[in-house]
Amino acid sequence: MSTKQILGIWIFFCVISKLALSQNHALIPYPRQIATKQGYFKFAQQTTVAYSDKKLKKEATYLAAGLMNLCKLKTNTICVSKHSLNSKQSILLTLDPTFQNPEAYSLYITTNLITVKSATAKGVFYGIQSLLQLAANTSDVNSMNCLSIENDFPQYKWRGMHLDCSRHFFSTEFVKKYIDLIATYKFNYFHWHLTDDQGWRIEIKKYPKLTQIGAFRTGTMKGHYTEQQFDSIPYGGFYTQADIRDIVTYAQQRHVEIVPEIDMPGHAKAAIASYPQLSCNGEKVAVGTKWGIEKEVLCPSPFTFQFIDDLFAELTQLFPGEYIHIGGDEVLKEQWENSEFCKTLMRKENLNDATELQAFFMNKIEQIANKYHKKAIGWDEIMEKNTNTNATIMSWRGMEAGIEAAKNKHAVIMTPIDYCYFDHYQGNEATEPLAIGGYTPIEQVYAFNPCPDSVAIADRKYILGAQGNVWTEYLKTPELVEYMSTPRLCALAEVIWTGNQNKQIGFEHFKSRLVKHQDFLKKKNIHFSPTFLINEAAKK
Ligand code: ACM
Repeated sequence: MSTKQILGIWIFFCVISKLALSQNHALIPYPRQIATKQGYFKFAQQTTVAYSDKKLKKEATYLAAGLMNLCKLKTNTICVSKHSLNSKQSILLTLDPTFQNPEAYSLYITTNLITVKSATAKGVFYGIQSLLQLAANTSDVNSMNCLSIENDFPQYKWRGMHLDCSRHFFSTEFVKKYIDLIATYKFNYFHWHLTDDQGWRIEIKKYPKLTQIGAFRTGTMKGHYTEQQFDSIPYGGFYTQADIRDIVTYAQQRHVEIVPEIDMPGHAKAAIASYPQLSCNGEKVAVGTKWGIEKEVLCPSPFTFQFIDDLFAELTQLFPGEYIHIGGDEVLKEQWENSEFCKTLMRKENLNDATELQAFFMNKIEQIANKYHKKAIGWDEIMEKNTNTNATIMSWRGMEAGIEAAKNKHAVIMTPIDYCYFDHYQGNEATEPLAIGGYTPIEQVYAFNPCPDSVAIADRKYILGAQGNVWTEYLKTPELVEYMSTPRLCALAEVIWTGNQNKQIGFEHFKSRLVKHQDFLKKKNIHFSPTFLINEAAKK
């Protein structure tokens, strides 16, 4: 074969693969059904964004802002229940009660009209996300390929992302950027880890020392835990109640429910440093400076339960969602075992050991949450020796606890450490930023199945969905949070939204879309990790 012929074949394959990619539409999560049609929708000098019901006004405003920010496209927004739709090039947002799933949407792009339809504003918002991804990823920003996405809906109700703002504190501005990012991929829960040993981050009016003392530490561990090295740079910060309200409103506009976590009874050293009466021995301690698990634990005393009740009274005024996360993970029980108060309590309550005491403690907190009309969520430890809870569990140490809980008719969110911990390395440790450990490349996230075949059909409904966790011991900056979370959260979004179908679409299809999708992330100013490309090159 001549060099010319080889070159010809190579060009042919390049064109074909580019065409195949363009047919893939760089959408994440991929819709259940998508059909490309003939023709293009061309944006006019000023395209109209019309909404048929005033309930969709916020969505119309969001779409207009997105088209401007991502594509520099100017639009004007009108309510067509008041005016008629007479502009030639228009985008119509409309409600249609015939959809069975309230989160489902359809998107039709024709030559002069784009329609986004759903039974709810939330579903319309998801259709807008697909539309914005398509608009931002077209090579010619002024024209979009005609297509239809028919009745796209999520596999799971719980599509969560978490962020630890205790180990490192992130500004209100960044928390909003993170919420906007997760909403882009149709996540609907933001699990906000607000308290831990190394910092209490939420203003509580009745207990001002929580933020006067608990929000600040004198230094921070540097390097790996085994090295035991520390800096002595004072570090801290917290969200005022005004900040919280602002973030909650921002999340509501993006159909994201915030689940605040107050981690108890372990991971509570910052609270105990502020109010030593919360511990069994009353000893004065400082806010934590090292990572790992601390021995300090809240005492199951009347003072502690009154504190939690007061705390929840304020928290429930700030967070309008259905849930409060009450923690429950990694509790060292030595202080309880050495406490005369706990020994007496255990005899009185017929508790055989400290694990039963933890179940007693968690159930009391759950009752306080319920008193304020909130459902409790806890890490999977809360199920240990506990038959008396209605809490939803987050299965993090693996999937076994979640599968067992579903068998016992408990609501479960799967967040197993081997698939959903985005603080783990995603590539070669030698060339990646310092991380806590582990190895969870994006392929592994994509291979995750929140509801394995071993779960009995009757129990599957208890698995509400899944969540990605972003612990920040080693993530000091917003850029590092974005680098570790993205694009692994894109893979998780597809697992949870597209669900079982992702097995049919496959990782290669996902990856080809992700390659193209990088432009969208750049336009959103997300400092994503290119490691998935490096891993791929290393295989060749
Ligand atoms: C956890 O990772 N300790 C829930």
